[in-house]
Amino acid sequence: MKYANRLATIEPFYVVDVLTRAKLLERQGVDVVQMVAGEPDFPTIDPIVDAAKKALTEGKTYYTEALGLLPLREKISELYQTRYNVKVPVDRIVVTPGASGALQLTALTLLNPGDGVMLADPGYPSNRQFIRLAGGEPQLVPVSFEDNYQLTGELVDKYWQANTRAAQVATPSNPTGSVLNFDELTALHHAVTQKSGHLIVDELYHGLHFDEPCDTVLSITDSAFVINSFSKYFGMTGWRLGWMVVPEDAVPHIEKLSQNMFISLSTPAQYGALAGFTEESTLLLDQRRDVFKQRKAFLIKALREIGFEIPIEPKGAFYLYASAKKFTDDSFGVCHELLDKAHVSVTPGKDFGDYLSNEHVRFSFTTSMESLEKGVERLARFLR
Ligand SMILES: Cc1ncc(COP(=O)(O)O)c(C=O)c1O
Repeated sequence: MKYANRLATIEPFYVVDVLTRAKLLERQGVDVVQMVAGEPDFPTIDPIVDAAKKALTEGKTYYTEALGLLPLREKISELYQTRYNVKVPVDRIVVTPGASGALQLTALTLLNPGDGVMLADPGYPSNRQFIRLAGGEPQLVPVSFEDNYQLTGELVDKYWQANTRAAQVATPSNPTGSVLNFDELTALHHAVTQKSGHLIVDELYHGLHFDEPCDTVLSITDSAFVINSFSKYFGMTGWRLGWMVVPEDAVPHIEKLSQNMFISLSTPAQYGALAGFTEESTLLLDQRRDVFKQRKAFLIKALREIGFEIPIEPKGAFYLYASAKKFTDDSFGVCHELLDKAHVSVTPGKDFGDYLSNEHVRFSFTTSMESLEKGVERLARFLR
């Protein structure tokens, strides 16, 4: 059979190999400590589940508007007001099937074949594939702890190419948890504007900060494409719901794409999400963030004691990006060995790019403290 040429340009999500193998071992009765998943271990909070159940019982099972339910877009607009004191008109908010849907819509809206998008390496793997699917070229910029693992205004100046159309960042980032502050976002915005390019900012881990709340680029400019999601802070990964805030003139284009690609978003998921903004829900969700903070403190200390290098601490999300160079220059192989022999699942650096990826691994602290303690003990025994 002959399939489309574009398939050859798409890389696999390597972490899924580790996950599949971990599941296989678990089915064989092996107790695997999982530090691989990019999703909160907590189930979705009751108020959201109850609201979705109620919607189903009431027969709310039909398509909604392609841009999303109006009351949900209004709640999202209010969130920008209460969380950041920024006015974001409902008209610029588009509800999407997860941040994944928003990222695909963004790539399809901004890119012509051959256009480049500057991305930090390491960074979230699917971005590279979404850009390729739109016919674009991911342009990876190597970043280290010295750059706070993020693109900067200076890096944009240095690496911008003739075909570059956009720079894309995530704050907090996956896999490093590093955050861009107000001044850094401003510098990025200026650098990209000078090149007449677009700035894409993935804010999907907002709400999951450890100290200071994160700044939104929307307090600096209306021209950025901002991605967000109900997956992480709201703990709704499996519901497949996210949103984007876009410049006003982009909305009709995105609406047209969304109508054709998705028709609508999941209706029960949207009714569920509506219940995620109450005081009661916010309290529950903030408590979960505090649990992540405690786990982060434990895991950083324990991993450093074993010999992993974590030069800067994450400021948000639920990941630790660690150098394992003391143990290996083949972190992909080590992740498989760790799983098979120590029964701990960890994500290989290879998933996130090329730069020093063979010496890095990502630990997710999306599992209980008890399980983290067990995982660390196994790692220490195996690596020593
Ligand atoms: C930086 C980043 N962007 C987007 C996504 C996709 O998230 P969603 O579940 O909202 O599609 C992820 C998922 O892990 C992510 O880490």
